[in-house]
Parts: sequence; C-alpha cells; structure tokens
Amino acid sequence: MNIFYHESSGTFHLQNDFISYIIKRLPNGQLGQLYFGKAIRDRESFDHLVEMNHRPMTAYVFEGNKKFSLDHIKQEYPSYGTTDFRHPAVEIVQPNGSRITDFVYVSHTISAGKPKLENLPATYTEQDDEAQTITFLLHDGLLDVDLELNYTLFADKPALARSARFINKGSLDLHLTHAMSLSLDLPDCDYEFVHFSGAWSRERHMKVRKLEMGIQSVESTRGTSSHNHNPFVVLKRPETTEFSGEAIGFSLVYSGNFLAQAEVDTWGTTRLTMGINPFQFDWKLTPGESFQTPEAVMVYSTTGLNGMSQVYHKLYQKRLARGYWRDRPRPILINNWEATYFDFTEDKLVTIAEAAKNDGVELFVLDDGWFGARCNDFAGLGDWVANTDRLARGITGLAERIDALGMKFGLWFEPEMVNMDSDLFRAHPDWRICTPNRRVSHGRNQYVLDYSRKEVVDYIYGMMAKILSEAKVSYIKWDMNRCITEAFSAALPADQQGELFHRYILGVYDLYDRLTTNFPQVLFESCASGGGRFDPGLLYYAPQGWASDDSDAIERLKIQYGTSMCYPISSIGAHVSVVPNHQVFRVTPIATRANVAHFGTFGYELDLNKLTEEERKQVREQIKFMKKYREVIQFGTFYRLISPFDNANFTAWMVVSEDQKTALVGYYKILNEVNGPYHRVKLCGLNPDMQYTVDGDASHYGDELMNLGLLTTDGAAGELTPEDRKSVDFDSRIFVLHAQ
Ligand code: DGJ
Repeated sequence: MNIFYHESSGTFHLQNDFISYIIKRLPNGQLGQLYFGKAIRDRESFDHLVEMNHRPMTAYVFEGNKKFSLDHIKQEYPSYGTTDFRHPAVEIVQPNGSRITDFVYVSHTISAGKPKLENLPATYTEQDDEAQTITFLLHDGLLDVDLELNYTLFADKPALARSARFINKGSLDLHLTHAMSLSLDLPDCDYEFVHFSGAWSRERHMKVRKLEMGIQSVESTRGTSSHNHNPFVVLKRPETTEFSGEAIGFSLVYSGNFLAQAEVDTWGTTRLTMGINPFQFDWKLTPGESFQTPEAVMVYSTTGLNGMSQVYHKLYQKRLARGYWRDRPRPILINNWEATYFDFTEDKLVTIAEAAKNDGVELFVLDDGWFGARCNDFAGLGDWVANTDRLARGITGLAERIDALGMKFGLWFEPEMVNMDSDLFRAHPDWRICTPNRRVSHGRNQYVLDYSRKEVVDYIYGMMAKILSEAKVSYIKWDMNRCITEAFSAALPADQQGELFHRYILGVYDLYDRLTTNFPQVLFESCASGGGRFDPGLLYYAPQGWASDDSDAIERLKIQYGTSMCYPISSIGAHVSVVPNHQVFRVTPIATRANVAHFGTFGYELDLNKLTEEERKQVREQIKFMKKYREVIQFGTFYRLISPFDNANFTAWMVVSEDQKTALVGYYKILNEVNGPYHRVKLCGLNPDMQYTVDGDASHYGDELMNLGLLTTDGAAGELTPEDRKSVDFDSRIFVLHAQ
C-alpha cells in the first residue's frame, strides 16, 4: 500500500495490491479524478488521462484557457455552474443568494491509519499499518471556507473510505445544501445499476437496470435509511456475474435520508454521487463552525459480486462493528413476539423460556408490551418503566427468573417513539416532531421524539440506563416503527429547520454511543419494523439487525440473499417462526425454516411448547447444529451460488471456514418436481486438493466439487432431505463438507 505524490505533475496515486485511485491537481486548482480500478503501475505523470477538450458548440470554457471546460472533466468533488452542468457534490447558498463555489487545492497530508469521524459511525483501524489516509485541504477564498477531503486506503482490501468536512473560517452565515460523501466520475457508462429495494416485509430485493443517459437514483426521504431503498448500490458491467467480472460497490455509513445517484451525460461518462439526501437538507454553517459528512465506502472487485461482498463482509465485520460481540458467535435466542404479541403474563413468558432452555436456547428476549400502559399499540411508548400488573417484580424480577433457568435475558425498546397516551407525552408534548398548526400524522398510533434535542436523548438515556443498571439485561432489541412526517423541531430556528433530519440521526447515534460505552457487554440488535434501518451506520453500534418482519423461509431467501450483498452473515437476524406463517400464511417444513435461519444469527420466534414432540426433536438437533457450526457460518467466507432473483425454483449459498476444511452448503427448493433432472451446484472457495466428505459419506476432491459440482438431488424423486421421507414443496438441505 502506498500513496504517491508526484509534485511535477500534481498527481496523487493511492495504490495497494488490488486497486489504484488517481487524482490530479487541475489547471484551475481544483482536483480532478483520473482513474479508479484495478491496480496499475505508478508513474510520474498520468496527464494523458485528463480529457480536457471542450466539445464543438460547447462554448463554455474557463476564462483564459480555451482547452479547459469542466463540462466533461472528471472531478473529485464537483460544484455546479462553472462550466459543469451535472449534479454537484457541494452547493453552498451564500448571503447574496449565490451558489457558486470554487474550492482549490491548498495542501495535503498523508498519515498512517485512519482518523475518527466526529460524532459519526465509520470504519476504523486498530494498527497504523492497516491503512493510509490522505487529507486534501481545499479552500474557497471568497467565502473563506475550508474543505477537507479524506480518503482512506485499506492495505489488504480493494476498499477506499471517503468523507468530506467543511469549516467556515470566514464571517458569513452560509447554508450547505449539498454535502455529498463521495462523487466518482467514471469514463464510460457501460454499467448496470444494482440496488436493493422493496418495502416492509420484502426488504432488499435485488434490482438490476442498465445505465442510460440521464439520472437514475435511489434515496430515502423518510428519516431512516428505510425498507424501501438501502444506502448501498453497485455499478457492475453487464457481463459481471456472482463469480467474475468488474463491480464497484458504494456503501454509505449512515442511517438517515440518503441519495445514491448515477448520472450519465451525453458523452457517455458516469457520475456516481452518494451522501446525505440534498432533498430537504439545509445546514446553516455559521462562522467558526464545521460540518462533517458521513463516510462512504467504495469496493472494487474483479471477481464479481461475491468478491465485492466478501470485502464488505470482512471490513464491516472486523472494522466497522465493534466491541465485546464483534468476534463472538451470537447467542441462540427465543423472542416472544410472534408467540404472544401483547398477550402475556410473567408465568407465560417463563414457560416459553423453560421449554427453550430445555432445547438448548441461550437467550430469552422479551419483546414489546412490558412497560407503562402498553397492553396494545395505542399506549405506553416513552414510559420505559415495567408494568407491574404484568411483571410483579418488574424487569429485575423477570430477569432473575430467566437467570435462574441458566439463560441470558434480553429486552425490547423503541426509544425514539412516544404514544399520546403516555406519561412522557403528557409531561412533554413539545418533544414530538410535528409542525405547528398543522395536522400531525401518526404511524401505528405513535409519534417520533425530537432526537435533535439533547434533553430528549438525555431523558430516554436515563430511563434505559436505570433498567440496564438494575436488571441483568444482556441484549437489547432497539426497534423503530414509523418514519418521520411533518418534520419540524420546536427547538430549531426557522433557518435551521433543514437540519432536523440529520440532527435526528446524530441524536440516535449519540444514544447508541452512550449505551454501548456504558454497557459494553450488552449485545444490541437494531430493528425498524424489521429491516427498515438495516445499514452500516447502525452496524457500528449494533453488530446485528433484525433483517425483516417477514419470517417466512421462502420470502427470506430473497431478503437474506439481497442483504448479503453488503452485510455479513453475523449481522443478519434470522429466526424460525410458526406455520402457517404470520406474514404470508405459508406452511413450510420446520427443517427449511431452520435451514434458512441458520445463515444468520439464528433464533426462534414461537412458543416451543406448542410444537409436536417430533418437531421438538428437530429443534434440539437444529440448536445442536448451530452451536457446532455458528463460528463457521457467521465468520467464514460466504458465497452466493444460485440466486432466487434469477432462478424461480432453487436458491443456494455456502460458507467455508478459514482453513477451508469445513463448508456448509444451503440448498433450497421452492416447488417439488416430478421425475425431474439431476441437479448439481458448483461450489466455491474449497481447496482443490483437499478431499471432502459430504454429510459424512463418500469423499470428493475440492476441484471436482467446484468444477463439476455437488449433486443435490437424485434425479428421480428430487429427494433433498436426508431423512426417510419424500421430498415436499419448500424442501431444503444443508450439506456439511469436511476435509479429511
Ligand atoms: C416490529 C418488529 O420488527 C417486531 O419484531 C416486533 O418487535 C414489533 N415491532 C413489536 O412492536
């Protein structure tokens, strides 16, 4: 890894074994982008890569240089309106109404490691030799504003983290309306734009569309990163597959409103910008103040989508997630939500926990309904004090009973919300987000607390910290069940209302930060009506997230496949629930429900007492299996093999241990076939020279399993299950491979 600076040509070359990223000081003093891709050798000058010529009939040239127009120059952090007509990375509204800026290079510093971002989640290094950071200082002389552009190159990965920081050194009140985390200009547009979109209960479905001239984008305007779109997109070549070809991932470490936009101009270049959504964003930058953008992480792969995902998995697992649970296999849990909803007593909960303990579950999680007047979803949010009608000795009493069973205890909170029927709302009606004299929309009968106000965060922290200090709580599920409407803060002046969405998320991060700092051994699982805020920002605090409220095994194939594009298996909350399933009413075998949930953090969302003895036997086996293999599943190398988005009837994926001696292949069939063909799946990541047994039987060399494939059905009956029964619809199997 090295960051070269060639003074004679004003060129910076960020290079490691995998990638090169080349920047140049342009004749106008701004920074130009010359190359991002597979590593190339360094040289003194790459000036021949600057595409300067202005086009016929394009009269827009910089004064004094007829050969220089930003109209088609690739830039690092572009602004609009000085011969570039594409969407910018930066826009600042000035007291006289002008939005024109001119940030020119002043200096740069290169340092080992990676500096922390102020009040924001970000990737990090533990040793200085893991990464190098270059910070460019740019300056707009008229406004007297500094702009720092930060680039961190990781030593052992094709990954680059970027962010920007503005410092108002002058005397003007300025308004930042665009402050993107990254802008990347690519020399062509032969890409497909891949995004992960959906809605509640069908999050992160993979969508692929060809880039065309004009703008294509995904965004959130809801105050959360959202169920609808994820702050992660990929530009891939049309021929790129899961296993080969070029792909560039763009991931924003942020949990609020975002924009990921690809703009193709009419000369066939592509500009990818990513950051806080400029829509509704307006940050007042007063003299002496600074503004730090969130971080965006780009990964470049020549080994297809799997290669790209594996880089994100390792980076986010080891250098974004933090703390006690980062490297630890996750406890197998039981959650009472789908088992009881609001209808529970303490004894009923303990009965559920007892059965779970008996079968090997390690953690009991009490979901919604334990606090205040919360017997349905009309009341109680905001009052984080146990309801003693339900729990006679409060959370402490229940936690002791669970502890006496030999289980850990976990608790649900929805700390950002308030019901009108709550003591909190009665005491502080102005703490909810709403616009004065306008109708206030509720979502699930609840309102969003104004987390841009420190006193609100302080108050909620106080209530949560009290419970965590008094009771033995090892796990918190942090839920968030509506998005923000009528955005307005009673605490902000008129010219700062455009800051609310970002200040809200900073408040959420602040609460997470205080809780994780003061209760470092508590495992946090993020949640937002399932996967409504499944993003890298929250992974920094909560190493796992409930991926979706849809717990149907077949629906989960797409959700977990799409989620795995960016997020590691150790972060994907996945549970076995009852049938008929509560979301889609489908009946699937309990083996398949577990075979899908095994590729996640694993747990149960039902009352085991209600299962048959045969099902309980299977549950005990599933838990034993998970305990044996969770280290490999959650921390091994994950490969997607057959996509549910491409193949209507089969899905397959696998994990391989670091020493390549253990591999688990998950194979899932939707509908049964009659007299079907033999099916094989080509495996990945094995050692070609090792001999592997499959489910303890006959051995095959790794090269055979990777090049010819693993036989997954026997052809005649389409048999999948190892047990003595006929294959059924929604059947599945996990093949266990061991090298001798
Ligand atoms: C939505 C979550 O996604 C569910 O798992 C559950 O916790 C409910 N909220 C409780 O209200």
